[in-house]
Amino acid sequence: EWTTWLILLLAYLFGAIPAGAWVARYYGVDIQKVGSGNTGATNILRTLGAGPAALVAVFDVFKGGIAVLLARLFNIEGPLLGGVALAAVLGHNYSVFLRFTGGKGVATSFGTLLFLDPLVALLTFPVGVLTMWLTRFVSAGSMIGGLTAVVVTIALGRPLWEILTLLVLAGLIFWTHRENIKRLQAGNERRLGDKASNSE
Ligand code: G3P
Repeated sequence: EWTTWLILLLAYLFGAIPAGAWVARYYGVDIQKVGSGNTGATNILRTLGAGPAALVAVFDVFKGGIAVLLARLFNIEGPLLGGVALAAVLGHNYSVFLRFTGGKGVATSFGTLLFLDPLVALLTFPVGVLTMWLTRFVSAGSMIGGLTAVVVTIALGRPLWEILTLLVLAGLIFWTHRENIKRLQAGNERRLGDKASNSE
């Protein structure tokens, strides 16, 4: 019914708020034209530094979280709640404010997971961060994190709709990181701490 579509549309619009692109624009930078070209906190970090990156990371997590939290307050649960999480992440990745381009959906996925299943979020977070820390590749940590969430959800015996939601979220993370995967294979992926010098 129409309320379902309205809820999904609102979640999409929350996710679509392009914090990274707008913060960078405030600094006079087109973030989609520097570094990796991504709108996420990782590219903001290598382009504008830690302060703006923290702001973008917090906002991108928050917008995913608020979408699922609001849905819960309206007593939405089960598959539709999974749909809300997906809609928020799709909004971030394919934002109406950026001609249907956007980010890679890692922070926003994590935000939705925080309110979808806090325990899974809590168990997944250290694995992703540790991978980033050890490899110095944020992309690798993101993909390992996505996979970990699926494994943890299955291991905890969560309902099928939740497993499928996390499977799609992880699939989206791999899809949006396809250029990163090529760079990792080619050995020229940017390391955490590298400054943005070249654009592509
Ligand atoms: O969240 C995105 C991160 O995993 C990779 O970002 O800019 O290195 O492509 P980037």
